[in-house]
Amino acid sequence: PKAEFVAELLSKMTLDEKLGQLNLPSSGDITTGLAKSSDISKKIAEGKVGGLFNIKSVEKIKEVQKIAVENSRLKIPLIFGMDVIHGYETTFPIPLGLSCTWDMNLIERSAQIAAQEASADGINWTFSPMVDVSRDPRWGRISEGSGEDAYLGSQIAKAMVNGYQQHDLSKNNSILACVKHFALYGAPEAGRDYNTVDMSHIRMFNDYFPPYKAAVDAGVGSVMASFNEVDGIPATGSKWLMTDVLRKQWNFKGFVVTDFTGINEMIDHGMGDLQASSALAMNAGVEMDMVGEGFLTTLKKSIDEKKVSVARIDEAVKLILEAKYDLGLFHDPYKYCDVKRSKTEIFTSQSRNEARKIAAQSLVLLKNQGQVLPLKKSGTIALIGPLADAEENMSGTWSVATKKGTSVTLLNGIKEVAGKSVKVLYAKGSNLDYDETLETNATMFGKTLHRDARSKEELIAEALKVANQSDVIVAALGESAEMSGESSSRTNLEIPQAQKDLLNELLKTGKPVVLVLFDGRPLVITKENETVPAILNVWFAGTEAGYAIADVLFGDENPSGKLTATFPRSVGQVPIYYAHKNTGRPLANKEGKFEKFRSNYIDERNEPLFPFGYGLSYTTFDYSNIKISSDKMNFSGKLNVTVEVANTGNFDGKETVQLYIRDLVGSVTRPVRELKGFQKINLKKGEKQTVTFEITVEDLKFYNSDLQFVAEPGLFDVFVGGNSNADKKVSFELTK
Ligand code: IFM
Repeated sequence: PKAEFVAELLSKMTLDEKLGQLNLPSSGDITTGLAKSSDISKKIAEGKVGGLFNIKSVEKIKEVQKIAVENSRLKIPLIFGMDVIHGYETTFPIPLGLSCTWDMNLIERSAQIAAQEASADGINWTFSPMVDVSRDPRWGRISEGSGEDAYLGSQIAKAMVNGYQQHDLSKNNSILACVKHFALYGAPEAGRDYNTVDMSHIRMFNDYFPPYKAAVDAGVGSVMASFNEVDGIPATGSKWLMTDVLRKQWNFKGFVVTDFTGINEMIDHGMGDLQASSALAMNAGVEMDMVGEGFLTTLKKSIDEKKVSVARIDEAVKLILEAKYDLGLFHDPYKYCDVKRSKTEIFTSQSRNEARKIAAQSLVLLKNQGQVLPLKKSGTIALIGPLADAEENMSGTWSVATKKGTSVTLLNGIKEVAGKSVKVLYAKGSNLDYDETLETNATMFGKTLHRDARSKEELIAEALKVANQSDVIVAALGESAEMSGESSSRTNLEIPQAQKDLLNELLKTGKPVVLVLFDGRPLVITKENETVPAILNVWFAGTEAGYAIADVLFGDENPSGKLTATFPRSVGQVPIYYAHKNTGRPLANKEGKFEKFRSNYIDERNEPLFPFGYGLSYTTFDYSNIKISSDKMNFSGKLNVTVEVANTGNFDGKETVQLYIRDLVGSVTRPVRELKGFQKINLKKGEKQTVTFEITVEDLKFYNSDLQFVAEPGLFDVFVGGNSNADKKVSFELTK
């Protein structure tokens, strides 16, 4: 019935109506100040709009849908999109934080709750998941992805797609997902957003493409083209990407949408005028034009001039109509417009409780010297810093549905979790130290940043007064939400200077200091790691951030997050990642000391400050007795690797046990190790568990220089442990 229904509808459409389906204007509801399509209602009635984004609420969406299904000739319903990136009104940690849970069930659940809330508010399409692998923390959108690893990123991509789409788009609480930004958006030169990407195919296929492919394999309904160029052609105009790779190799069945004015931006890329760029995108395999209206205004001319075929337009329209069909919109255009649901299913206490638990698991304990943490629920705590009581900063980037005033600050979280027996003193201590550009950025998204009018000295004096009365200082420092995210690239990855000055003064008091570090990317905290006894990295943990952080600080939750992006020692090491190549001149000494004519720096070590996979707990885990079921495996065989993990500390805890494989000899050079398995386990104190991983030939495959996905016979090392430096090792040979 779908094919027939769509074919019949298509046969009734005029060319103008077809082009209308390819047009996706912004309602201007959220990102005010950016390009807005004028006179949207009129266009909808004329059949010139296929969908709308940045519009929310059942009332508004119903009103707009009504125009489409009552006033337009063919009564084709619209789809309604939005950037539901890490939750809706109930906001979860930024995706980079979410990935640090290493818990696919929790991640899927977060997407499911987001879908439930968004769909209850009239929305049926989200521009998520963002699966761009990034190894460059200068890039501000590293906050929106799952870090540096293709294997972990692929599992997360699948979990997110399943969470949103729930394997069934006909349900009223599942929504269409859109994997983005295809492709390689996370690898811009010098970490500068939108900059040129230039990468070998072998690296694309091995290290950057897998998460997009995983989303396609999971049945993602749409794909968003990226802004950057790939192989010298903007992704939006790349037939190789959109047709050869995405459709032919990966068998993608949904539709491709541009990222915002991606078509118009091809003019600046140097691909020709709007007509040429629009034709290029259409012929490449892009179906929907977000905001720019190049399709709407130029494709007719290109058809007349035989630059674009009607058959290609029909194909594009068909894919969009099919998505609407799958969502059940032809059956009931108001399927997502249930006022009752909008009142009962959004920002519920149940969703918030789940968000609190998930947020707690996204926090990464980087250091805990002398067991400063967990804090006792007694005595006096000085909570100091510009992020301690900064409600507008808790949810981080792309939290457009988060309602002002609904996020729990750290100050409120601590007060509530600690209870009456703890005296909590607060001082701001310093300004965030953002500059005017960031302020503009914030205002654009309707946020206000509050700069304190007091001088730096006055703020520090007040902080010291409070600090001196306390038993322990909790310093809430780091980036403001606007310092990461889109168009927030940085060349300096340190905590802003005013806050560092404050921290130094706090350390001088001699009181124990816990640094609660807010950030949207790995920061360079080499100095702080030397001077501060305890560091808890909290990202931007969402509406329940304050509760979740307090739960961890007081030990109601034992931290279990593990980094998914390497923390560099200095910005000069970037790009830095664990799965690097060995080179022909690796360092020979284990201590990492400088060696002349070897691959290293004269002024910095090679290894990072904190490696991928790293994160502490209040308890300790001991790994022992690693075994492999055989030292040989053939192409159809299987091996089991087992390891004993014991909780040797004083708290119950969760540990993510990680398995890495090194392919020792290949037809192409292979990384020093690659993540190929992980299991998050729960161990009570004193408890021990044997963890088993299965290895098959699939885990050994990679793209060779002919871009064939193959495994090659030879020797492999397997490492198991609690981070990417895992040193418990077994070896085997893959035989023909
Ligand atoms: O989905 C986003 C994208 O990630 C960045 N540009 C705008 C799009 C729609 O808001």
